Amino acid sequence: MTAFIKVHNPANGEFIQEVPISTQDEIKKAIIKGHGSFKSWSKVNAHERSRLLREWAQKIQEQKEDIAVLMTKENGKPLCESLGEVDYATSYIDWYAEEAKRIYGRTIPASTESKRIIVSRVPVGLVAAITPWNFPAAMMTRKAAPALAAGCTFIVKPAEETPLTSIKLIELAHEVGFPMDVIQYVNGDGKSVGELFTSSPYVRKITFTGSTPVGKSLIKNSSDTIKHVTMELGGHAPLIVAEDADIDLAVQQTIATKFRNAGQTCVCANRLIVHESIVETYSSKLIHAVSQLKVGNGLEKTTDIGPIINEKGFNKIVSQIKNAVDQGAEVMIGNHFDASSEDGYFFVYPTVLKNVNSSMTIMQEETFGPVAPIISFNKLEEAIEIANSTPYGLAAYFFTNDYRTGTYLTEHLDFGIIGWNDGAPSGAHVPFGGMKESGLGREGGPEGIESYLETKYLSIGNL
Ligand code: SIN
Repeated sequence: MTAFIKVHNPANGEFIQEVPISTQDEIKKAIIKGHGSFKSWSKVNAHERSRLLREWAQKIQEQKEDIAVLMTKENGKPLCESLGEVDYATSYIDWYAEEAKRIYGRTIPASTESKRIIVSRVPVGLVAAITPWNFPAAMMTRKAAPALAAGCTFIVKPAEETPLTSIKLIELAHEVGFPMDVIQYVNGDGKSVGELFTSSPYVRKITFTGSTPVGKSLIKNSSDTIKHVTMELGGHAPLIVAEDADIDLAVQQTIATKFRNAGQTCVCANRLIVHESIVETYSSKLIHAVSQLKVGNGLEKTTDIGPIINEKGFNKIVSQIKNAVDQGAEVMIGNHFDASSEDGYFFVYPTVLKNVNSSMTIMQEETFGPVAPIISFNKLEEAIEIANSTPYGLAAYFFTNDYRTGTYLTEHLDFGIIGWNDGAPSGAHVPFGGMKESGLGREGGPEGIESYLETKYLSIGNL
């Protein structure tokens, strides 16, 4: 009997649609098909791959509004953020449609007259992706577009909470002419699909966006068949506001990075580290800005903050706030919830905490929710110490107009992405990824296609 994933709207628990869970046999067949079609797809010339990618991007744009509504229904994010995400997702396809034509090799001067040396770049093979619920469109295209551009074939397992947007995008890829076996999806739980992906010798690369523990187990399980891996894992971004910062800009950008997608992004600022001389001014301006944010169903035009994706995520946020308050943190605004396990909706009102210290769990673990803890510092060295005291190294932000302070912070922060007076550094043209336990490899920009390519070196002798 077929089992189904039932997709619900996290804003009200409403049932949206069900999708069949792929059986082990279906997943194995999909892997074999993806492997089989690699031979022909990798021979399709780069200009043709580029053309198909451009047509895919155009098709998605033609259906932008419908895709955005679907995304808001299954993920909960405000409609304007979903519209933004459709553009963001499309920008990866556009970018890699161009990069497909720029996969260059090189010649190397040989050490004797009788030899010639040529280095070429070839696609790694079948790529398997596991994508998260927080960006159901963009995290899929950020992986699929460079894979297809490089000449790889691609299978994705979208998040169980939000499979519908990814499925829609893949259907559109088939409509514009991508062969069915070149880009595929399967549905199921991460653990069992992950095991099938990692154990198959046909899958040559695993690309994953999600939690650090799951990333670690995918890396371990990929080692038996020595797969390529790209891992975009957890974050715990610090946001430092220096003594001389433009406070209004810092507040505006804090709102952008902290409360995007209800705080459910890997690059959300999680720890606000503010110079003691301006902490009162910054906090009161931030609280005022937070008080303007409207919480509600993402389909309503006035909503800024949608629901938390599920009860597990909600409970984690609530327990972090409780732990901080129990240890002496002061609630400046928020610590208010509207949730019903029975009806299946979970809202956390944007919360600002002060008098926070480094021993609270909110300062140690990723929050994935609309909570902003503020801690103050005196010397820049202290701010760096707090910022770097985490196993994560994805994104960091700082605000200063002093080039010496900015240079010092840039050089001492152990993070893969740094926003200087900028709370929104993501983009298709830039290398997104983390240091330490935040991951391996980069997505986006020219770096983003590198990990879908192998190097093949040819030595011609006896000339
Ligand atoms: C993420 O949360 O992992 C992605 C955020 C982004 O691409 O800006």
